[in-house]
Amino acid sequence: MYIDLGDTDKTWQDIYKLIVTFVNPRPIALVSTISADGVRNLAPFSFFNMVSANPPVMMVCPSRKRDHGKKDTHANIQATGEFVVATVTRSIADAMNDSSAPYPPDVDEFEKCALTPMPASIVRPPLVAESPVNCECKIDRIIEFGDQPGAGAVIFGRIVAIHAKDEFISDDGGMDPEKLQTIGRLGRNSYATTTDRFDLPRAQIRI
Ligand SMILES: Cc1cc2nc3c(=O)[nH]c(=O)nc-3n(C[C@H](O)[C@H](O)[C@H](O)COP(=O)(O)O)c2cc1C
Repeated sequence: MYIDLGDTDKTWQDIYKLIVTFVNPRPIALVSTISADGVRNLAPFSFFNMVSANPPVMMVCPSRKRDHGKKDTHANIQATGEFVVATVTRSIADAMNDSSAPYPPDVDEFEKCALTPMPASIVRPPLVAESPVNCECKIDRIIEFGDQPGAGAVIFGRIVAIHAKDEFISDDGGMDPEKLQTIGRLGRNSYATTTDRFDLPRAQIRI
């Protein structure tokens, strides 16, 4: 298959559905925000990653809705400048999925998804108590790729605090993947676990 994106009958949705079947597995951020009116919001984003180590920066990418409007997460971060990224593990996969339903902005999604809000240390949006790791973030900048349906916005947040549950920490100071059980998003309705792993020693220059 070859697709020239400048000369195709395929819609942006066709192309999106194709790309997410090979850009994967994608980590999932469960993003906690609050609206300008103080309503708690939760939503998952698999267009998500860490993008800078020093300073530590994460990005999440809410796309525009069919009516060109911003998703609540996007609007809330713009209004308050703050968000929390909870790591999504197998144990909260169902609740994460529940939080992806398009609830109106005045609905408390912690209540809808039966997840427990816990006060953060620095920012106002709550942590997700059921997640083993929560990162408190303050907005750095937003880059928008237009306002047409499906257009992404890249929201960069500086990590200002990390809450990692002690029972998931290994001797080397990292998280233990066996205990953590993060999940990744594949295309369609599929997800991957980290149950099957393999190690590759870091490559050296061959002389
Ligand atoms: C696993 C998963 C990953 C998702 N990733 C994204 C994403 O990266 N960007 C996006 O715009 N929507 C994504 N969605 C859809 C949003 O979660 C959904 O539109 C949600 O209702 C947005 O909520 P909000 O309006 O409260 O921000 C994802 C959904 C699921 C289930």
